Amino acid sequence: MKKISFLNLGKHPITNNFLKTNKPKNEFFYNLKLIYHKETKLVSLDNFVPPKKMFNDKYAHRASASITMQKAYRNLANKIKKKFKPKSILEIGSNDGVFIKYFSNINNVGVEPCKNLADLTSKMKIETYDKFWTFRLSNKILSKHGKFDIIYSANTISHIHNLNETFKAIENSLNSNGIFILEDPSLLKSLQKLSYDQFYDEHAYVFSITALKNITKQSGLEVFNIEELKTHGGSNRVYFKKISNKTIKISNTVNKHLLKEKNFGINNLQTYRIFAKKVLRSRKNLIKIFQKIKKEKKNIIGYGATYKSSTVLNFCKIDKKFIKYFLDTTPTKAGKFTPGTHIPIKRYNGIPSNVDYAFLGAWNFKDEIFKKEKKFIDRGGRFITHVPSPKIL
Ligand code: TMP
Repeated sequence: MKKISFLNLGKHPITNNFLKTNKPKNEFFYNLKLIYHKETKLVSLDNFVPPKKMFNDKYAHRASASITMQKAYRNLANKIKKKFKPKSILEIGSNDGVFIKYFSNINNVGVEPCKNLADLTSKMKIETYDKFWTFRLSNKILSKHGKFDIIYSANTISHIHNLNETFKAIENSLNSNGIFILEDPSLLKSLQKLSYDQFYDEHAYVFSITALKNITKQSGLEVFNIEELKTHGGSNRVYFKKISNKTIKISNTVNKHLLKEKNFGINNLQTYRIFAKKVLRSRKNLIKIFQKIKKEKKNIIGYGATYKSSTVLNFCKIDKKFIKYFLDTTPTKAGKFTPGTHIPIKRYNGIPSNVDYAFLGAWNFKDEIFKKEKKFIDRGGRFITHVPSPKIL
């Protein structure tokens, strides 16, 4: 399969590896290079990081850390119940149970390789397998729970390296009229918004509908509906059915999306070359903003020590010289240091009055944050963002 490299973002650490010290020994770095697969149109990292280095019992991300996400999962659970009336549901990547907990009255099973998270949902009496999703695991779950009406997976399939096995295992676990719902960041939106921070160790792939269609065919799955979401700066919710299931009609959202992607040039290497050029320019302009503010001796902090921000900070070499500390609401990140750039992270307790600028690490929650930080904005505080282009908001 022909792979073409189009952007080298340099050396990067494990984004989930929030450090206990600002002088770590032997911090792991890998080369973050982006690849376009000519045949399938998949976009992926060149070097995959070993899964156990990323997904382990120290995994920091809590899906329920954001109010926006909590609401989104509750609404989706209600929608699925109403629309599909499932008697069984499996979630791949159930995190802290933010979604699967709404299905306690039916056969609900979670798969979550990070044991600290799997323990949380097990305590909620949701049977949770603290294992990576494989064909073998799908058979094990099948022998105990049978096949499923719904399989749901948000922000997880793009993390799994062997997509062939992943989709085959999903097909294997679905009832003949079962539905698989995938949610992952949209490649089209990442390219349009120049959010190169969608690329980091965990995101082995950033999917287009075009590529998903190409790679799921051989597993017996077919896309039948697509919904565009605002989550993670622009995601797609993609509904699959078995190819053999002819009772479900294919919605015109599928062709519409394929056409939109084609018109943007998702199938064209030149699109990625242009993206790469723009990313290099974006880095230059972001550094300029930080340098200018620093010259004015103003205080800059970071807001939301997200995984995405790790790509920006390490790529642009923005470290303690520029950002004094990060504020973050996730308790497990507080008191630690950002991977690679070693910026201290403090527990969020409002933005202190001496802060002039806050770099929006969690730019995808801009609306939620702007509402919450009205006082900061009203007293002249400003946010810095790099999406879609570096600027002070
Ligand atoms: P995510 O983008 O990977 O979901 O991570 C969001 C991170 O940002 C998480 O650590 C919580 C943090 N955060 C804040 O600190 N304050 C906020 O208002 C929001 C929305 C997120």
